[in-house]
Amino acid sequence: MADKKQSPKENAAEKPGKTTISRRNFLKGVGTGTVAAAVAPTVLIGAEKAAEAQMGEAITSATIQLNINAKTYEVEVEPRTTLLTVLRDGIDTRGNHVDLTGAKLICDRGECGGCTVMVDGTSVYACMMLAIDAQGKQITTVEGLAEGDTLHPVQEAFIQHDALMCGFCTPGFVVSAASLLSENKKPTLEEIKMGLSGNTCRCGTYPFIFDAVKTAARKM
Ligand code: FES
Ligand code: FES
Repeated sequence: MADKKQSPKENAAEKPGKTTISRRNFLKGVGTGTVAAAVAPTVLIGAEKAAEAQMGEAITSATIQLNINAKTYEVEVEPRTTLLTVLRDGIDTRGNHVDLTGAKLICDRGECGGCTVMVDGTSVYACMMLAIDAQGKQITTVEGLAEGDTLHPVQEAFIQHDALMCGFCTPGFVVSAASLLSENKKPTLEEIKMGLSGNTCRCGTYPFIFDAVKTAARKM
């Protein structure tokens, strides 16, 4: 009769470099008090050492460089720091506040689009991107769209169409629209709606926003 088929776990226990004690045998051993005495302390001490080693090697902060609006910022960040936090509250290594507050912190969970920035030309939720992942990329915030005193055509069109009420969502919409128009010069209304679907306006200014994007597209 064929041997009983081994479970994947039992097979794994026999692979080179792994313990040769299967989970089943280990549990059997615990039952008799033999294997447990020999193996359990080793397992526990090993796990403890691994945890200690991990804690010892944990990175608590790092100094990184970010290219924002064609300017290099050197900032110290924790691994969990988002790009949005650096933009709004970051302090560079010379003690200067980054202070780019155009991207808004609203939902902080990738739902409203208020924090939209461009990363390598694509619109991104800055609240959902870690600052360390933005290294080596071109980050453009709403502050970086104008050229000197000349507004970006999308910004001009938003003013022309009065496409805002409270204005809290506006920077995110402007950046998303600029990103859309950089990829699609003549979007249809449906494409504009789709391109801006990641942004929410609680004041309901959508018709004016869509008109503004159509106007900007004509100017561009
Ligand atoms: S604050 Fe980032 S998506 Fe809402
Ligand atoms: S203008 Fe108020 S949330 Fe859009």
